[in-house]
Amino acid sequence: MYTLGIETSCDETSASVVYKGREILSNVVATSLPLHKEYGGIIPEIASRMQLEAITPVVSSAFRSAKKRIGDIGLISVTSGPGLLGSLIVGLSFAKALSASQAIPVLGVNHLYSHIFASFLGRGEKVPRFPFVALIVSGGHTNLFYVQGFDRISLLGKTLDDAAGEAFDKVAKILGLGYPGGPVIERLAQEGDPHSILFNCSRTQAPLDFSFSGIKTAVLYYARSHTKGEKGMLRRSLRKNIAASFQETVFRVLIEKSLAACRMKGVKTLVVGGGVASNKTLRNLCIGTLRRSGIRVFFPSQPLSVDNAAMVASLGYYLYKNGHRDNLYLNVGLD
Ligand code: KG4
Ligand code: ZN
Repeated sequence: MYTLGIETSCDETSASVVYKGREILSNVVATSLPLHKEYGGIIPEIASRMQLEAITPVVSSAFRSAKKRIGDIGLISVTSGPGLLGSLIVGLSFAKALSASQAIPVLGVNHLYSHIFASFLGRGEKVPRFPFVALIVSGGHTNLFYVQGFDRISLLGKTLDDAAGEAFDKVAKILGLGYPGGPVIERLAQEGDPHSILFNCSRTQAPLDFSFSGIKTAVLYYARSHTKGEKGMLRRSLRKNIAASFQETVFRVLIEKSLAACRMKGVKTLVVGGGVASNKTLRNLCIGTLRRSGIRVFFPSQPLSVDNAAMVASLGYYLYKNGHRDNLYLNVGLD
């Protein structure tokens, strides 16, 4: 069966055709990111207006690249939340209209869960085996899940304040590096010393929860106290060391808690997903550290770490096979 995936939860408009939940025939992503950069964050109204313009050409392009037609599609899988309300409504309305006009079933899927199953794509049979622990690190969420099946997912821990990606974005702003912060901090950190500055993440009462707002404030105070000259400039070498030390501290916490979750559940597999998972330092550190504890780690490829419709098509396919059904009353779910 061919599934059409549609994803519009944040600034991207994406459509994908996936065969049997695993083989990607096309995965088209358009983003309005350049329009948000000057504001230092995503402006929801701009995002949804651009999605309204992009959705038809993006879906057409996904069909063209896959060399398929709407008549070949057996299921439309669409992100129904969490995400930006206006943006979600664009994707959901498009999917429901297509479903009604072409008599194709439609299924809404959870955006965070679709990040988990990005690791099931493009690997042939070498996919993670249930049960496993999943760490989802994005701009809006930092969650640990216990995953026993496509529709058996329970929350083990979450951030109490900022998400990991959000902390990257805020620290980048403090260092004057622009938006989004993740990729630029990763680049700068490669030239810095990760052990040069001692930052800490706040402790949490529940051991598998996270807190990243404290480290962001610590970076702010550190940067302020080391800012020199009339123009308030930080030395470039110092910025590199701040980026490297901040990144290392956040990653150590993510890895430590993921390992604790695997031990608590007695599982030997960790799946990582979400925009922050595209960071190569996190990949190397995480794979290396968990391997020493006998835990196998799965990361999606870089294009599948960030928001895309292939992961939405994939999860929708498996849920449909497991008997999940929606109808035209399907609505946005914001949490
Ligand atoms: O999953 P995603 O594409 O969108 C959301 O659902 O939020 O994640 C976006 C987040 C942003 O905060 C961005 O700064 C972060 O992922 N990010 C990174 C990297 N690339 C993107 N964080 C660290 N290192 C990266 N290379
Ligand atoms: Zn996402």
